Amino acid sequence: MSETAGTPCVLLCVTGCIAAYKSCETARCLQRAGARVKVLMTEHATHFVGPTTFRALTHEKVAVGLFDDPEDPIHHISLAQEADVVLVAPATANILAKMAHGIADDLMSTTLLATKAPIVVAPAMNVGMWEADATQENVRTLQRRGVHVITPDSGYLACGDVGGGRLPDPWRVADLALMAAGEAGPLAGEHVLITAGGTHEPIDPVRFIGNRSSGKMGAALARAASRQGANVTLVLGPASIEPPAGVRCVRVETAAEMLAASEEAFEDATIAICAAAVADYTPAKPADHKLKKTEERLDTVELTETVDILAALSARKGERTVIGFAAETSNVVDYALAKLSRKGCDAIVANDVSREDSGFGTDTNKAWWIDADGTHEMPCMSKEGLAYEILRRATKS
Ligand code: CTP
Repeated sequence: MSETAGTPCVLLCVTGCIAAYKSCETARCLQRAGARVKVLMTEHATHFVGPTTFRALTHEKVAVGLFDDPEDPIHHISLAQEADVVLVAPATANILAKMAHGIADDLMSTTLLATKAPIVVAPAMNVGMWEADATQENVRTLQRRGVHVITPDSGYLACGDVGGGRLPDPWRVADLALMAAGEAGPLAGEHVLITAGGTHEPIDPVRFIGNRSSGKMGAALARAASRQGANVTLVLGPASIEPPAGVRCVRVETAAEMLAASEEAFEDATIAICAAAVADYTPAKPADHKLKKTEERLDTVELTETVDILAALSARKGERTVIGFAAETSNVVDYALAKLSRKGCDAIVANDVSREDSGFGTDTNKAWWIDADGTHEMPCMSKEGLAYEILRRATKS
């Protein structure tokens, strides 16, 4: 177990795969979440990332060879005993096969065989290798023995193929490892309210006014908050996404329903994040029957303004932290600054929805964090990664 009480020790095992470079980020994510990280690499992994990089990141000796440490001739046993959780990321087909068959012929495989700590593996490889019967059989064997296997993402692979085999976002890998170690998470005790998706404002029982929101950013926030131990209520308007597991989801259709559900959940909330694209106007008199274009006027719809949910919550926020979003296509920071003061929230996450890699339906976002201390530009990153950044800033952790 870790020498420092309350600080989990993660043994990060890096194997020889092009995704090894992502393990540098995984090590950082683990550290940011409060873990002590020790790195163990296979010889092959050192061809992709140098041990010096991990040594500099972790301030710990990096273990590679069975007989490298003259002061510790049974290094695999001390590494195995010290870890609160062992994370193999990326895990090649080779290490999965060795683990499944109990082969112990180097420092990593002997350590994995010796440890009593929970083991989490994040496989990453070519899609053919991942889908091979041998690999799938080995994965099932490991799962049967209680090893946590993080399913690889699908997408473009380094070899040029498209399919399953990508190492997931470092944040996700780090989180799942810490949860396997029984960590409560940095947001334990927080009640987080998130609004997400768009709204549908009825013109009649068939037609509505809607928008392009996919709900992905809100879902990423809900997932990240829940994974970090928060109690999460997601007030979700019409959207293409499924609510994440473990999150209380209240489904709504209209801006008025979203307001009512949000105000109710706000009572117990400690943090509220308004990521929904709420309609600014709603038909003043929605028809109770389908309007017929030959008989009724359909070329004009009388509209009335909706209540600004973010402003309404901010007006009675008390000790709570309230965060809003600003989806802009020009003058992103200036418009967002104006929204920060107009709505009275603690911070605004501004994003440029005119970019191909940002906004509605994309998996990435380019955003700025704007609060009383100033404007911080963030690099374009996955919505999952941005969700963690937002939560970290919201809680100033
Ligand atoms: N918002 C809200 N309720 C509304 C409108 C907006 O809670 N009725 C929230 C959004 O969830 C977001 C922020 O306000 O957090 C900014 O939304 P946005 O659509 O960018 O701004 P608007 O206030 O609608 O201003 P405009 O459309 O002029 O940009």
